[in-house]
Amino acid sequence: MKINFLLVGMGGRGLPTFAKGLLGWPDKGWPEFVDKARIVGLMDTNIERCKACYAELKKRPIPYDLPMFSDLDEAIVKSKADWAVICVPDRVHTEVCLKCIEGGLNIWVEKPLATSVEECDLILSKAKEKNVEVRVAHNYRHYRWIVKIEQLLKEGAIGKVLSFRAGEILGDAHGGDYFHRWHSDFSVSAGMLNHKACHHFDLIFWLLKDTPVCAQAMGSRALYREKKMPAHGERCSSCQLKKTCPHAIDMDVWDGIYRKMYIDAEHVDGYIRDKCVFSDRHSIYDNYTVNFTMQSGVIGNYILTNFGPREYVFFEFVGTEGSIEAGQDGLTHKEYLRVIKMKKSADKDGILHDKAEAEEISFEDEGGMHGHGGADMRMLASFLGFKEGVAVDPAILASGEEAKSAILGADMANRSLAEGGRVVWKEETGKDFPPTPPQPSWCSKIRK
Ligand SMILES: NC(=O)c1ccc[n+]([C@@H]2O[C@H](COP(=O)([O-])OP(=O)(O)OC[C@H]3O[C@@H](n4cnc5c(N)ncnc54)[C@H](O)[C@@H]3O)[C@@H](O)[C@H]2O)c1
Repeated sequence: MKINFLLVGMGGRGLPTFAKGLLGWPDKGWPEFVDKARIVGLMDTNIERCKACYAELKKRPIPYDLPMFSDLDEAIVKSKADWAVICVPDRVHTEVCLKCIEGGLNIWVEKPLATSVEECDLILSKAKEKNVEVRVAHNYRHYRWIVKIEQLLKEGAIGKVLSFRAGEILGDAHGGDYFHRWHSDFSVSAGMLNHKACHHFDLIFWLLKDTPVCAQAMGSRALYREKKMPAHGERCSSCQLKKTCPHAIDMDVWDGIYRKMYIDAEHVDGYIRDKCVFSDRHSIYDNYTVNFTMQSGVIGNYILTNFGPREYVFFEFVGTEGSIEAGQDGLTHKEYLRVIKMKKSADKDGILHDKAEAEEISFEDEGGMHGHGGADMRMLASFLGFKEGVAVDPAILASGEEAKSAILGADMANRSLAEGGRVVWKEETGKDFPPTPPQPSWCSKIRK
């Protein structure tokens, strides 16, 4: 039996990952997906964007018609879907999830599940009441090196974990992309600690099988600020500096799909995809550091920076019997994973010394697969019930409760940011949306 999917939100994620993926586009899905899945509706409040997506999808044969909707209630009733895949801006997740659940649909929500603990609780309690399933598209779990870390920690390869360090430095183009559009409005994304770091918080908490009890965060908006550049424009597509600016987004790439989806659909909702990143309209930070204490007593820290010459992500877990160092270079997409243990070795006089020995674990090159190094495709395969290789397994998919832990981490950290780094406890969340962090004159506001 095929699973019927209604895709809600046909933007940067809805089209390539879910629509093309479920239709088995090369490097986005497997051909077998079409035997397991059927898309029964494309829904977006901007119908022009939906039409642009449909036109793109028709570049390859589609074995059936794809109904389009601009009204969610109508889509829920008419599509007769089993699952709604929700790919709308982060703060809109809750209202869309609640409607879909109310309509009896199971929900597969793009990460982050929501933008506050309060919203997660609303979604999860409604899902329980209506007896529908909740999954969250934490695609990062489906990197092979991440799944390998999970196995190693589960097997006790480094004993009991006591400490962790993790972080991501984003290159200019990637890190700046969040400052072109809705993400840089705290009231829509709850900032990068929620929108972006939720990936890493989910990984850390899932790998450790633990949840955070308190967080302390500091941050700043260091780069994406108003700049006095006489030649720069309000948006990249009309900017004289677009050929040289490392932050410019090219709206004509990939056969003009961005132009068709966004610029040509602007008249419907006024959504501008390529606003200049150098502005003070933003209400989020671009540079963060967070400390966590976990339920088990493990402590750790995390950094996120939205600008840098070289993009990379790293994780380190230190345990009673060794440590794991792992990461990925975003330029080459090469991952590394090493397990380090102290081994006794005798010197020439027979005296025993402790010596660190590293075991390198490598992965075969899969040939530059699209969609987060193939993680998107493996996530879809896992959802459709396939179990193959190291990172395709339905057991890896994030549940709603697990995804809530990541939001708890971000929610506490956001409250801490707003108060200049006070330690915030989980009991302080769940009642409201976290406050917007103070903006560039923050020092004077925090230091009385
Ligand atoms: N897992 C990942 O790696 C990853 C990567 C990027 C984005 N995301 C997540 O995917 C989601 C979508 O991000 P995106 O980059 O595709 O954004 P986008 O802005 O490109 O697309 C969002 C779409 O939602 C539509 N929309 C807005 N309100 C709606 C509503 N009430 N009902 C229906 N449609 C509505 C918009 O018109 C737009 O087409 C976000 O939650 C984001 O955090 C995940």
